[in-house]
Amino acid sequence: MAGYVGAIDQGTTSTRFMIFNHSGEEVAKAQLEHEQILPKAGWVEHDPIEIWERSRTVIEQALQRGGLKGSDLEAIGITNQRETTVVWDPNTGQPHHNAIVWQDTRTDRIASALEREGKGDVIRQKAGLPPATYFAAGKVQWLLENVDGLREKAENGQAIFGTIDTWVLWNLSGGVNGGVHMTDVTNASRTMLMNLETLDWDDELLGFFGIPRRMLPEIKSSSKVYAHTVAGGPVGAEVPIAGMLGDQQGAVVGQVAFTPGEGKNTYGTGNFFLLNTGNEIVRSKSGLLTTLGYKFGDEPAVYCLEGAIAVTGSAVQWLRDQLGLITDAAETEALSKQVDDAGGMYFVPAFSGLFAPYWRSDARGAMVGLARYHTKAHIVRATLESICWQSKEVADAMYKDSGVELEFLKVDGGAVVNDHLMQMQADILGVPVARPQVAETTALGSAYAAGLAVGFWSNKDEMRQNWLEDKRWEPQWDDAKRQEGYAGWKKAVERTFDWVD
Ligand code: G3P
Repeated sequence: MAGYVGAIDQGTTSTRFMIFNHSGEEVAKAQLEHEQILPKAGWVEHDPIEIWERSRTVIEQALQRGGLKGSDLEAIGITNQRETTVVWDPNTGQPHHNAIVWQDTRTDRIASALEREGKGDVIRQKAGLPPATYFAAGKVQWLLENVDGLREKAENGQAIFGTIDTWVLWNLSGGVNGGVHMTDVTNASRTMLMNLETLDWDDELLGFFGIPRRMLPEIKSSSKVYAHTVAGGPVGAEVPIAGMLGDQQGAVVGQVAFTPGEGKNTYGTGNFFLLNTGNEIVRSKSGLLTTLGYKFGDEPAVYCLEGAIAVTGSAVQWLRDQLGLITDAAETEALSKQVDDAGGMYFVPAFSGLFAPYWRSDARGAMVGLARYHTKAHIVRATLESICWQSKEVADAMYKDSGVELEFLKVDGGAVVNDHLMQMQADILGVPVARPQVAETTALGSAYAAGLAVGFWSNKDEMRQNWLEDKRWEPQWDDAKRQEGYAGWKKAVERTFDWVD
């Protein structure tokens, strides 16, 4: 079929625009980083205007690189870093504050007060999430309490809220000249405000955070025509904007994990391991999140269990940027291979506390078992192993909650180019690990959602046929070695607890 679908992937560190053909192959791409604003320890902000400017530029650059015009695109999808919170004035398009990023921990008091006041169980039951700094609602509450006059503005329509999907959609569809104010179920499921059963904002939850309903976007499915781009905008034509998915859910769709029991693990700044549980809402007893997987048009919603790990790839960045042990992430592969193991040491990178399956905001990072013998190579190896052990803990929690035994793991994200890391992951999990040919599964997933809405792809089977395996790693460790390593990891994790209040 002629024609293309574009996808904007607005991530934590960069923004990409990718153009795919009907076979799901990448035709053109442009990518730009944006500033990480770190006003104090634990605070992470982005400038929403910079994010929108970067989005505009990558759209223009990718079209140009592909020798294409906006009118060659049948549809556009949006996928995004989730939970990151923007509040802006719809009359001027100006944000009332920088975006508060998902990693930001300034709302720790808000989160712990919810638990103390006995609201935690209601949030877990209705929204599928534990009260934590990670999710959007506490960030909105913080803005309402700390930005002068914001509550009044929120009540009279001068301040509206959105996660990054909503911010990009509003701008792409015209901004102050008629931009639409919508989100999709997957992004809404990361706020602590959406009821998993009704797929609508929940008044009791809104009350917990004192958030006026008026400032919230309309919740829509992940695949439908929400609006059109405007001819005067970066696309230069009126193209349907027809898919929206949080980035991790985008990867579920891009990896065609459409059958209950299928899942994927994405290796980015953090790791996000999602398991499709079908139309069933599985409430976790093991520290996982219950989240929306996707909802295509009027079809019933598909749910997932998610193991969100805060720090994986960003631990490698820390070795590079803060410790100067490496100059490029790619060096970790050769360094780690210099040693047969980490020599009995472990590194637990609990920089933002621990997310799944622990949800311990009192934890902080630790290297344990150190001896004079250890070298830089051991530290690098322990860092890569920490990515794999954390994923193993999430895989175990998934088995406990769902009873579904993992048969093989589909992987994607930046770090899966590291073959040695993937071999360790197979060894540590004890199941094969498989990497697809198109590693940009996040963008591909939102392109699929958009293309499905406009009939560019007619069904899921067409997408399944596009999934081609690039490489597979078989586990080589025996059970005894795995068990011994795992016991050491668990002991190391305990050392990180009770470090801060
Ligand atoms: O929940 C946070 C996640 O969506 C961030 O993903 O790839 O931007 O680090 P990424």
